[in-house]
Amino acid sequence: MSRDTAIDPRLHRLRRQRLLDRLGSGVLLLSTAPETIRNGDVLHEYRPGSDFHYLTGFPEPEAVLVAIADRPGRHRCVLFVRPRDPAREVWDGPRFGVAGSKRSFGVDDAYPIGELWQRMPALMQGQERLFHRLGGDPAFDRRLLEHFAGQARKHRRRQPAAHPTIQDPLPALAEQRRSKDAAELAALRTAAGISAAGHRAAMAAARPGQREYEVQAELEAVFRRAGSPRNGYPSIVASGRNACVLHYHENDRELRAGDLLLIDAGAEWGGSTADITRTFPVSGRFTAAQAAVYRVVLRAQLAGIRASRPGAPWDSAHKTCIRWLVKGLVELGVLRGDASRLIRKEKFKPWYMHGTSHWLGRDVHDVGAYLGAGDRPEPLPVGSVLTVEPGLYFAPRDRRVPAELRGIGIRIEDDVLVGKGGPEVLTAAAPKTIAEVEQACRR
Ligand code: GLY
Ligand code: MN
Ligand code: MN
Repeated sequence: MSRDTAIDPRLHRLRRQRLLDRLGSGVLLLSTAPETIRNGDVLHEYRPGSDFHYLTGFPEPEAVLVAIADRPGRHRCVLFVRPRDPAREVWDGPRFGVAGSKRSFGVDDAYPIGELWQRMPALMQGQERLFHRLGGDPAFDRRLLEHFAGQARKHRRRQPAAHPTIQDPLPALAEQRRSKDAAELAALRTAAGISAAGHRAAMAAARPGQREYEVQAELEAVFRRAGSPRNGYPSIVASGRNACVLHYHENDRELRAGDLLLIDAGAEWGGSTADITRTFPVSGRFTAAQAAVYRVVLRAQLAGIRASRPGAPWDSAHKTCIRWLVKGLVELGVLRGDASRLIRKEKFKPWYMHGTSHWLGRDVHDVGAYLGAGDRPEPLPVGSVLTVEPGLYFAPRDRRVPAELRGIGIRIEDDVLVGKGGPEVLTAAAPKTIAEVEQACRR
């Protein structure tokens, strides 16, 4: 059975009901993608769509969820799935099929995916609203429009409305996913623990003369041995000046004595991913210049985490980190002048050009609004998880900074649960202070 299989019918029914209670009466229509060709006969590895999997636990491609809310507090749920196919299953492995889907996933009915459109009129009967996001899957949308057009033609003597009111369910679903339920949080905690172990292993393994991809292999071996089916995003293993490329992905440079190695990597577990960055010295000891920059970033990060309290504006960590980074840039001799003015004029931007936080969950940059009414930053909800990831990046040929800082790139990133009592760092098992990191690098 695929590790994406999540059989917990009560949980998934509860999630669907919570969503439909927000949306009101109508029919929710949500698909998960078919498989896609990578090249020749090779398919891309399949990962179920985050929303679909959150609401069903169903792991297979080419499936559609139809959930009908006709009475408050109740809904009827139908899954359309690929039917069993003994000849195909010899090649690809077993499918749940129609009967197996109905039996295992707690849905009221299951049908072959090929019957979706012929069954839609009955499922939509008497319903005035369809909850579906247009634009996410153009091929599916085209089919939906054809369906409506066909229905209108068929019933033209009665001149019915050609289609129901279509309402986007994803803002409500995103808000629901943003505050983690117990199962989501448990998955994130496991992902965080596995990821932290990977980062520890990378610190222990890295040494001058290796290639970045060799360290990546050590890190990801820990993820895979722990049962994580895949990474939440491609690992960034960036030594020396490569750390100044924010989404560096070649991972093939040779590590040299005296380099820092920045690793941004997270394992997926139960559909959720961690997102950790650590930066450590390949030779096991920070140089004085590296340590000075590291302390500035760490001080900012710790302050940013403390600022991530329930009810605080979501960008509190960003604003706090900027204050501390600017103070640090002055101490390092990079900037001069009044801190408030430097912040107002964004004088830090050449060396800190990205945001500090994003929601985290099933998607590494998870769903959930950042801005509310009047474009005001959303208050941090209890149960939400965000990253706090300040950094400083001094490009090798940047003549604006003291020579000893050039080529140093440092980011420190943790995953923070906004708990009732305050922030909780889910990724605390990854070494972070200079002493902890140097200890972890010792072999
Ligand atoms: N790993 C991507 C990010 O930190 O946002
Ligand atoms: Mn991140
Ligand atoms: Mn990251």
